[in-house]
Amino acid sequence: MKDYLIALEEIIEEQRQRIKRMEESSPLDLTLVPTIIVGIIPGDGIGPFIMDHTKKVLDHLLKEEIEEGKIEFRNIEGLTIENRAKEGKGLPPSCLNEIKKCHVLLKGPTETPDARANVMNIESANVALRRELDLFANVRPVTIPQKNIDWIFFRENTEGEYVLGSKGIELEGMALDFKVTTDRGTERICEAAFKYAKAKGNLKVSIVTKANIMKKTDGKFLKICYEVAQHYPSVPADDWYVDIMAANLLNPNRQSEYQVILTPNLYGDILTDEAAQLQGGVGTAGSGNIGDRYAMFEAIHGSAPRMVKMGRGKYANPSSLLKAAEMMLNHIGMTDKADKLKAALDETAKAMKMTGKGDGNTGEDYVTMVLSKI
Ligand code: IPM
Ligand code: MG
Repeated sequence: MKDYLIALEEIIEEQRQRIKRMEESSPLDLTLVPTIIVGIIPGDGIGPFIMDHTKKVLDHLLKEEIEEGKIEFRNIEGLTIENRAKEGKGLPPSCLNEIKKCHVLLKGPTETPDARANVMNIESANVALRRELDLFANVRPVTIPQKNIDWIFFRENTEGEYVLGSKGIELEGMALDFKVTTDRGTERICEAAFKYAKAKGNLKVSIVTKANIMKKTDGKFLKICYEVAQHYPSVPADDWYVDIMAANLLNPNRQSEYQVILTPNLYGDILTDEAAQLQGGVGTAGSGNIGDRYAMFEAIHGSAPRMVKMGRGKYANPSSLLKAAEMMLNHIGMTDKADKLKAALDETAKAMKMTGKGDGNTGEDYVTMVLSKI
């Protein structure tokens, strides 16, 4: 058999195994866990800067819970670009081992070198973590009250273009990448979105695909979304192609029509950056990566290595990671603490001018104000 056919066989078998694991997985009830272990991963570039600020706020907010042993923060070492490049792995096994001993993770951005980089072309740590911990729902809220925008994206986080992103095939004169959509992988993200929409008083769910072109994969996604919708008759649902959705999200006459936005992986990646930009930039958005067993909360932006090289790390806006921390507090059931943090963040955001350079406020200014408002 030709090499590429053998590779394809392997890929399909791997996906079958993944489907089996998805079907066997069952959720962990965090309310039954006596000490919730929160793994702290600072990341690269501006990551350690914004993590220091965020950790300070969490230590203050959770002082009692830490003392009572209800929460333990644990530093995860070695998930840095230097160490990952040295080991030649996007996610070194020793890091993954430590990470798996935690319940939830708070993560700063990690650098993903592309094919042009001088370091080895390793896999994205994000993609590896999402896959290894099976964090299937990427939940990204974007709110702009003055424009009546209150969106929450449910982005499928483990399949689509990402699952085989590092396993494309190159043949003479051509390159092929693969996109994978499974029944179970789609059902579980749809269930998460519809369940959320129902719990929040029957918000509308807007499904985003390009099912007119990606007929098999997006076709399946769209079909399964509407099947799941049938179990939630009180939740309104509609669907859009991703191109017009990208336009509508920018259209002032349509923006407030949307509430829950349910999307496959890559479209969700792109639309959430667009949405975050409307909110004030990618530095302002937090995100949750939720699975049955683990959950990881992070900023949606990259590590901005250029900013650090130019000595501007101290001007990095920590609000993305602070918002991720707020989502984490909600996830572990500490909703009163999350509300307190949210109120402090909303007030601080109004007062601070974060330009990322010397003409604006520093991360330190930001966090000092957040702490004063809690
Ligand atoms: C995101 C990021 C990641 C993604 C990168 C860092 C792999 O852009 O979380 O949106 O593409 O998902
Ligand atoms: Mg992205």
